[in-house]
Amino acid sequence: MLSAIASLLCVTLLGLQAGALPVDDFSVTSQKFLSGEVPAGFSINLDEERLVQFSEDETPVWMTEREKIRAKALGRKFFDITDTPTFMPAPASLAALKAYPKVNKQGLVKPVIANLTVDGMITNLQKFTSFRTRYYRSETGKQSQQWLVQRIGEITEQYASTDLADLITITEFTHPWGQNSVILRIKGASEEATAQNGTVLIGAHQDSANMIPFLPAPGADDDGSGSVTILEAYRGLLASNYTPVQDVEFHWYSAEEGGLLGSQAVASTYAQRGINIHSMIQLDMTAWVKKGTREEIGIVTDYVDADLTQFIRTLVDAYCSIPSVDTQCGYACSDHASWSKVGYRSAFAIESTFENSDKNVHSTNDRLDISPEFDFNHMLEFSKLTVGYIVETAGWAK
Ligand SMILES: *[C@@H]1O[C@H](CO)[C@@H](O)[C@H](O)[C@H]1NC(C)=O
Ligand SMILES: *[C@@H]1O[C@H](CO)[C@@H](O)[C@H](O)[C@H]1NC(C)=O
Ligand SMILES: [Zn+2]
Repeated sequence: MLSAIASLLCVTLLGLQAGALPVDDFSVTSQKFLSGEVPAGFSINLDEERLVQFSEDETPVWMTEREKIRAKALGRKFFDITDTPTFMPAPASLAALKAYPKVNKQGLVKPVIANLTVDGMITNLQKFTSFRTRYYRSETGKQSQQWLVQRIGEITEQYASTDLADLITITEFTHPWGQNSVILRIKGASEEATAQNGTVLIGAHQDSANMIPFLPAPGADDDGSGSVTILEAYRGLLASNYTPVQDVEFHWYSAEEGGLLGSQAVASTYAQRGINIHSMIQLDMTAWVKKGTREEIGIVTDYVDADLTQFIRTLVDAYCSIPSVDTQCGYACSDHASWSKVGYRSAFAIESTFENSDKNVHSTNDRLDISPEFDFNHMLEFSKLTVGYIVETAGWAK
């Protein structure tokens, strides 16, 4: 009884922190879903103890998976560090400050971005959102991941020249929960440059989640949008027969919604192996332009690398047709945080200020046809940013 009251109190307190979230609806509905049987098609143990970190200055706490789901539904952000309680940071030499280039490859970048279109993003996102949920512990989440791997393969086959195709590898980074992270690498022309100046990373997360994980989660904006945005950048680069000087990798993480699980596994493995990473940029939510607001590219300024962030602003000025705006997102906000944690430089661009972002996320309403505010042309601006970032940092071997 006491503990029941304590947990009720706790929910109320968390609810206050979470502001406008429908706490009462969630408590009533969640009782029904989270106290009953786990439905078919999900492999999750709600009683499993997980180690969760809510901020930099608090010690991590043990809680059940059920409590973790509840905390997320109430708007809290965290790393689930159960699988990576301790981690080895990347060697200090790799994290050493390197100067960012001045934007100076307009002649190479502009023809590529002129050929980017919304067509592929529309068909890819229609398919990606057709899975009932892309939850990382669901069968449909595994199926959506397999579809993504297949689609990347088709795009490679269709757009890469034979020489370029030889430089491309598509790998599944396996996770114990079923849905794997997907890693696409274009090998750079110079191994020496990659070793010295690092691999260039762009990331998005492929998984989606309803606040109550057993309910449908189309995840159109969060983060289907980022997932197909970087895919279009990839297609455009292939169509232009792009060969980087340094290695370039596109990452589609699994289990961002479970507490950045996929990206932590990948980032800590790269750090352990001493892989040199030039920088990592995350795109999580790229579609929404709130009615009555100016169309902008949100640049997150907290828990990111300041120099890389400044470099992104210059890329937006050079390659996007809309301005950037600073915003904040909080601790453990998306997968870039997993890279900063192990000592690499990372940054995060998002659809708008956090305040003006899509409020349908983590619900059945995160659909691409929910409102004209869901805008593929807005996503295209982020594809341009991606191409600019890659060519400017990884170079172009001609
Ligand atoms: C690494 O980057 C620096 C700065 O852009 C450049 O001068 C140098 O040649 C690069 N290293 C290699 C091996 O290409
Ligand atoms: C852009 O598209 C045009 C017309 O489809 C094509 O001729 C051209 O080669 C493409 N350029 C690049 C850089 O992909
Ligand atoms: Zn999310």
